[in-house]
Amino acid sequence: RKGGFAHFMLKEIFEQSDVFQQSFRLAFSHLETSALLRHAHGISVIACGTSYNASLLFRYFVEKECGTPVRVDLASEYRYLSTPEDEVVIAVSQSGETADTLSALKKAAASGCPTIAITNVQGSSITRAADRTIYTGAGPEISVAATKSYMAQVAAFVGLLAGMTCSETSFVECSVGQAIEESLLTDVSEAVSLCVPASTIFYVGRGIFYPVALEGALKMKEISYIHAEGYAAGEIKHGPFALLSEMTPAVAVCLPGDGYHSMLGNLREMKARGTPLIGIGYGDDIDLQDVTDVCIPIPKGDEYAQVAAVTVIMQRIAYYTALALGRDIDKPRNLAKSVTVE
Ligand code: M6R
Repeated sequence: RKGGFAHFMLKEIFEQSDVFQQSFRLAFSHLETSALLRHAHGISVIACGTSYNASLLFRYFVEKECGTPVRVDLASEYRYLSTPEDEVVIAVSQSGETADTLSALKKAAASGCPTIAITNVQGSSITRAADRTIYTGAGPEISVAATKSYMAQVAAFVGLLAGMTCSETSFVECSVGQAIEESLLTDVSEAVSLCVPASTIFYVGRGIFYPVALEGALKMKEISYIHAEGYAAGEIKHGPFALLSEMTPAVAVCLPGDGYHSMLGNLREMKARGTPLIGIGYGDDIDLQDVTDVCIPIPKGDEYAQVAAVTVIMQRIAYYTALALGRDIDKPRNLAKSVTVE
C-alpha cells in the first residue's frame, strides 16, 4: 500500500501535485460559498496544528486580493474570544473530528454566524455542525504528519479565492503542479546534513512565507524530534537572537518581492551570529547564495507555485532528517492522527 515508497509520508508527499489540482477544482466549484465570502464584512478561520498554518495563508491571500479582513484563531483559544455575528466562520480540519475545532465551530454557529467546514473526511463531525462543507481532495492520509492534506487545504483556499475574485484558473493549476513536481526532485541532502546534528532549527520567512515557515518547523519537530521554531523573520532579533549559534541552523525563505531586501538583511544578521543558513530561493540569486551555506533552488512562478514548492522542500528536509535519525516517521511518538479531546 505504500506503492514502493519507504513510508506513507513520502508517498503522500509525492501525491501532492494531483491533490492540489483536485482540491482546487472542488473548492472553485463552490461558487455560492465564494460569493458568500466575497460579500462578508469579515471572515474568521478556526483550526489547529497544520490546518491552522494553512489557514494563516488564506489571510494573506484574501487581504491582498480582496481587502476583506480575515481573522485566524487557534480553535483551542476561540472559546476565550469574541464571536462577531457578521463574520463568516470557516472551520478547517483534515479529520473533521478535532475536538477543539468542533467546539469552536459550534460556538460560532450558536452566535448566529454563517459557517463553512473545510475537511478531508466525508460525513465527519464538523460537516454536521456547519451550514455548508467543502471537501478537500487529498484522499486518505495515513501518516500522522499532515502533508498532502495541508496542500489540499491550501488548494481549497486558493480555489475559494479564485471564486471570490472571479479569476482565470487554468494557469494556477498548471504552475503549481509543475512547481510541486520539480521540487520533489530537488537535492536537499546538504540541508539535511546541517539539520541532523542541530539542537534547534529556526524556520524564517516574511509575508506568505511566515505561515509556510511555521508549517516547516512543525513538520521537522514532529517527525525528527529536533526542536524547531517558525518565526516571522523580522521577529528573530526580538529574543531568539540570544539562542543563535553553530548548533541552530535556520531554513530561510528568500524570494524576490515584498520584503526581499529586509530578508537578506535578517540573514546577514543571523550569519554574523554563527547560524548555518539554508536558503530557499531562486537558483540565480547570487546575493542569497552569498549569505547562505546551502541554497536550495525552487522554480520561478507565481506566489501559489512558490508556496507549494517551498512547502515540498521543507517537507522533504524534515522527512530525510527524520530518516537519518532513525525515527518512526509515520507514527511519531506521543502523537495521534486525530485529536478528539480538548
Ligand atoms: O484533523 P485536523 O486537521 O483537525 O488536525 C489538526 C492537527 O492535529 C493536525 O493538523 C496536526 O497538527 C498534524 N497532523 C501535524 O502534522
